[in-house]
Amino acid sequence: MTDHPRTIFVLTGAGVSAESGLGTFRDRGGIWARFDPMRLATPEAYAADPDTVLDFYDHRRRGAVAAEPNAAHVALAQTEARLAARGGRLFLCTQNVDDLHERAGSQAVTHMHGELLKARCCACDAVTPWRADLSRADRCPACGVSGRMRPDVVWFGEMPMHLDAIEAALAWADLFVAVGTSGAVYPAAGYVRQARALGIPTCEVNLEPSDNADAFDEARYGPASAALPRYLAELGL
Ligand code: APR
Ligand code: ZN
Repeated sequence: MTDHPRTIFVLTGAGVSAESGLGTFRDRGGIWARFDPMRLATPEAYAADPDTVLDFYDHRRRGAVAAEPNAAHVALAQTEARLAARGGRLFLCTQNVDDLHERAGSQAVTHMHGELLKARCCACDAVTPWRADLSRADRCPACGVSGRMRPDVVWFGEMPMHLDAIEAALAWADLFVAVGTSGAVYPAAGYVRQARALGIPTCEVNLEPSDNADAFDEARYGPASAALPRYLAELGL
């Protein structure tokens, strides 16, 4: 084992973007306390009422575009560069659909729940950048069919993305860190136990103990913008 981790697997959730002003889902007053996910974040909801679903995601997309990365996003981007310079790697797997990790400078971000800034055509599956409000009348730039565009995000009941790459990266990690996630949604919530089973040290950085806090070897509690840079500095990164 080197004197510092060579491959860190970092899993982020909505808490890492909370101090950038983006809502979390399950905190008091969270998104799912104000909106019904079954009416807004399922394929059935989109089929039944696409305009309402598109409006909801347009609103979230505009919020994400207006937000700025915070010190937690920046610390992860800097750590990615430092590890790469030493021949190591930071594998950043996010459940978030905003682009704050990318805008903070992270070069390799795996969005397992998709991305708000991309739209997908239900007719041909082509994914295109989504910059302006999306309406049902919009035509797919790839196949020209209109009325079939949706946000390229993973809804409840749909399979998360990039699962093979995530599993492979987890197997190579020297350290598993979860940041700003409640541990409520699988498969992401199960990664800490998979890491433990592989003998990989684990740490959660969160505002408060998550649903699977007991599965972590260590924890650093507090706002991610302060707790995460401090923890990474402790690791000599
Ligand atoms: N710093 C660190 N952690 C924070 C902060 C903060 N400033 N603010 C909130 N948190 C923590 C909360 O304590 C909570 O444990 O972030 C976590 C957010 O949990 P959720 O709202 O459940 O978000 P997340 O874990 O990302 O949800 C997973 O659920 O609905 C789906 O697709 C959605 O990707 C999302 C998934
Ligand atoms: Zn198409």
